[in-house]
Amino acid sequence: MDYNNAKEILAKYNQEHVLDYFDELSSDEKQQLLGQIEEIDWDLLQLIDQPEGVHNKGVITPLDNAVSIKDIEAHKEVYRATGEKAIKEGKVAALLLAGGMGTRLGSDKPKGMYNIGLTKDVFIFEMIVRNTLDVVNDLGVWIPLYVMTSEKNDKDTREFFEKMNYFGYNKDYVKFFKQEMAPAVSFDGKLYMEGKNRISTSPNGNGGWFISFVKAGLLEDAKKRGVEYINLFAVDNVCQRIADPLFVGAMIEHGCRCASKVVPKATPEERVGVLCLEDGKPSIVEYYELTEEMRYAKDENDELAYRWGVILNYLFNVEDLEKNLENNLSTHIVKKKIAYIDENAQLVKPETENGFKFETLVLDMIHMMDNCLAYEVVREKEFAPIKNKEGVDSVDTARELLKKNGVEL
Ligand code: UTP
Repeated sequence: MDYNNAKEILAKYNQEHVLDYFDELSSDEKQQLLGQIEEIDWDLLQLIDQPEGVHNKGVITPLDNAVSIKDIEAHKEVYRATGEKAIKEGKVAALLLAGGMGTRLGSDKPKGMYNIGLTKDVFIFEMIVRNTLDVVNDLGVWIPLYVMTSEKNDKDTREFFEKMNYFGYNKDYVKFFKQEMAPAVSFDGKLYMEGKNRISTSPNGNGGWFISFVKAGLLEDAKKRGVEYINLFAVDNVCQRIADPLFVGAMIEHGCRCASKVVPKATPEERVGVLCLEDGKPSIVEYYELTEEMRYAKDENDELAYRWGVILNYLFNVEDLEKNLENNLSTHIVKKKIAYIDENAQLVKPETENGFKFETLVLDMIHMMDNCLAYEVVREKEFAPIKNKEGVDSVDTARELLKKNGVEL
């Protein structure tokens, strides 16, 4: 793309300010900026005019059943045997979603590098690896661990794992891959610039993981290793069980194509997505998409009808993921804090949300699957997300739960 093409495109989309500093740039910098302009998906930017309309859902009904703690207790020997067999046969891989920017936590480093220790160092990545090692040590097999990063944190993440000697994991079983980026815009749709030669970009949401995984050649890697199931999970839940044999076994025993760990919602207002049915197929409805009526609806047992909150820990069947590769996920327009340069070309890191990012979400992949097993876990044992610096879902609440579960901090 040359300067004139770029100018034309930018004029068409009312984004001429992107070239404000063009004359000051070195020829390399000019090429970088032109390259970015060429790569932008301009259709995305149009979506901000219709934020409510982009993901129209079908008919939502409550889930008819979930495997409850009681069921799991009753069948745990069978689940365990089946799950352990699959893991020992190398059929299960773990995939850590760590491409997010963690803007609410507000650290410049990858979220996984955050130190939650009190009397000693305990890093979030370390907790994830330790949780995975529990199963590895128990069963005596290495589980492939794929780590999704983004352009913004890839180098730091890889260097940190290297420096920390992979926290005792076998590095031959750890593979990193980068997700793609998307532009970020102000509330009135103007592209933000994060430097004179760079449009502000951010990772394109955790729903992009499979395409990036395939592009990085890792689907091939997984298939070569005989992987059939991928356990996908978020970086910020430091308590979760990873490649949990009972979870794997329950999905296989129930003949399900996919599975999600769930917790009963603490209150109707809790801000978690809920697993339910959409036109009879599994689907996750975000907390802000639940109508007032659905939020408080009760079932015949006087329990919340929409009570199964997801904790971002899923099992997918590789075959089904491949089958759905071409199916597009809808784009969510998310309000976030976006760093940008001001009129003096100084970088500003805003304290409050100042624009939109464009993200696809892994929770939308659930609807592409034929069925999904809801698998209940004990909140106090497995759900301690670190989203915020303080208050709800924060470092403090996670520390408390870790201590209750006997983890020294
Ligand atoms: P969150 O929804 O908490 O987003 O991610 P975030 O970007 O990390 O944090 P905030 O909203 O800016 O504070 C849930 C999980 O999905 C991953 C995160 O790393 C986390 O494990 N994620 C999110 C990605 O891997 N890529 C993304 O583009 C977004």
